[in-house]
Amino acid sequence: MHGLREFPFVRDGRFIRAAAKPVRATIVTLMLAGLTLHAAASRAEGAAASAASSSTTDGAGTDAMSAEIARGAYLAKAADCAGCHTAPPRVTRPGAKPMPAAPFAGGLGMGSPFGTIYSSNITPDPGAGIGRYSYDDFARALREGVAPGGKRLYPAMPYPSFSKITDDDMHALYAYFMHGVQPVSTPAPTTRLPFPFNQRWALLFWDWAFAPSGQYRPDPAHDAQWNRGAYLVQALGHCGACHTPRGPAFNERGYSHSSSTYLTGGTNDHWFAPNLTADPGSGLGRLSADDIAAFLKAGHGGGLVTFGSMVQVVEDSTQYLSDADRAAIAGYLKSLPPRAPNGHFDADSRAARQTVRALRTGDVERPGAGIYATYCARCHRMDGAGERQKYPRLAGNPAVLGASSASLVRLLVEGGESPRTQGGPEPHKMPSFANRLTNNEMAQVLTFVRNTWGNAAAPVTSRDVSKVRAALGK
Ligand code: HEC
Ligand code: HEC
Ligand code: HEC
Repeated sequence: MHGLREFPFVRDGRFIRAAAKPVRATIVTLMLAGLTLHAAASRAEGAAASAASSSTTDGAGTDAMSAEIARGAYLAKAADCAGCHTAPPRVTRPGAKPMPAAPFAGGLGMGSPFGTIYSSNITPDPGAGIGRYSYDDFARALREGVAPGGKRLYPAMPYPSFSKITDDDMHALYAYFMHGVQPVSTPAPTTRLPFPFNQRWALLFWDWAFAPSGQYRPDPAHDAQWNRGAYLVQALGHCGACHTPRGPAFNERGYSHSSSTYLTGGTNDHWFAPNLTADPGSGLGRLSADDIAAFLKAGHGGGLVTFGSMVQVVEDSTQYLSDADRAAIAGYLKSLPPRAPNGHFDADSRAARQTVRALRTGDVERPGAGIYATYCARCHRMDGAGERQKYPRLAGNPAVLGASSASLVRLLVEGGESPRTQGGPEPHKMPSFANRLTNNEMAQVLTFVRNTWGNAAAPVTSRDVSKVRAALGK
């Protein structure tokens, strides 16, 4: 199921409105300098491209061609192109089964405070899609965010990450999109943002200031597996689009581990994507590489169950990766030094055992304990251990100990469903508590969960809850 994914640039409406004025002023001052330099750069590029294209080989065997297309299909999964470029299923009449939309035909709306941005039709249809793209057009759209005719793409398309895709992989992706995808002649809806956000050329400034350039270069200090993992995470997987905090212009604060904020946790669309560094509290420090690989395969690993916007990532993308690629990703993540620590977990603490005993006998005085026993313990258990392959453990769960409680609030308000994967456990539902718990009760039960069984993290206030609910309109 595809939700309305929010435009990364403007994922927190309040923030961008405050930032919009200085950004606009800067755009005007940088515009002239920008256009001149840009023209020079594209001339140089044009020359390099025409030199390169003359060396492309013809007459490759059909076997080689179909292998290349298959490789491209795999890379498209790793990059989750379908996740953003496929519209949500349509209900044709009330009560009918939803009809899945054609893959890659675009039209998934991404909400922004200025209006909705629609993903493009990227099927090989010559009119509605990208059928007329040359290889160079394709590579430029993916790496620089510039479509033919000089149309600058909004960074809702993760071209800052895709700039690191290697030439080899770019060729395979191109072969797949030209020859392995069914053309669809229905155009995607046009994105119409009000002035000044409809001035696409102004993104030039943003690209210069923030977008990295240059393909991934293997780090000789590490082995091939580590480099494969780094490449998948930084380039194709664009994991930082959600897991890296954003700066005032909604730029990701770092596109590789050389930045100290890379993958330390980010909030997009009111889902907080946790810290993926080795922090033992809210990060991956206490998970093994095998747990992480299992989590990416089926959404279940080390007692955790994926929820929120990560469910789609597992369903559309990481479940299809090879075991070797998932192991490489896990290995790379485990190599990241602990950063941005938050929260603690002490499994053997006496307090933890006492709470469990007190909860069982019902004499716990702490606010939230009664709510937990009544509404949550049936699935997550009195000892917070959950149930394997069904319900996540909350004791020692890094997502529970995160610097932001936004995801926890959103999950309580909306409920959720664990992912459906090939060969993975059956999906299970977490109910919505929007009509059963007040803001204050939600704050109390989350504070309890974050500070029981050896968990220790900042309390959640009813203001934290009401802010998220107001933003969600629920
Ligand atoms: C996180 C969401 C997201 C992902 C993942 C994504 N795209 Fe996009 N893409 C978009 C959006 C949104 C647009 C439209 C941007 C705009 O209108 O400025 C777009 C635009 C494009 C365009 C420009 C088409 C045109 O002429 O308008 C191409 C080509 C493209 N994407 C290819 C891809 C490919 C190939 C992949 C996978 C390797 C991919 N995208 C992955 C969101 C995404
Ligand atoms: C669309 C946003 C998004 C993208 C892209 C994304 N994630 Fe996530 N991720 C989340 C959210 C939200 C969570 C928290 C919910 C959960 O634990 O499942 C999460 C959780 C995780 C967790 C569990 C962490 C924990 O402490 O529980 C891992 C591991 C992870 N992501 C790895 C990745 C990797 C690797 C990639 C890139 C291949 C990636 N994610 C891409 C949003 C995203
Ligand atoms: C009917 C069983 C059920 C009940 C009752 C329930 N949950 Fe859940 N809970 C789940 C399932 C299933 C998930 C995974 C959801 C997903 O994947 O979207 C989950 C996920 C969570 C998570 C995210 C942790 C993770 O790693 O996935 C938290 C936090 C949580 N529940 C807290 C609560 C609280 C607090 C209550 C009581 C107010 C509660 N749950 C009641 C089934 C339940």
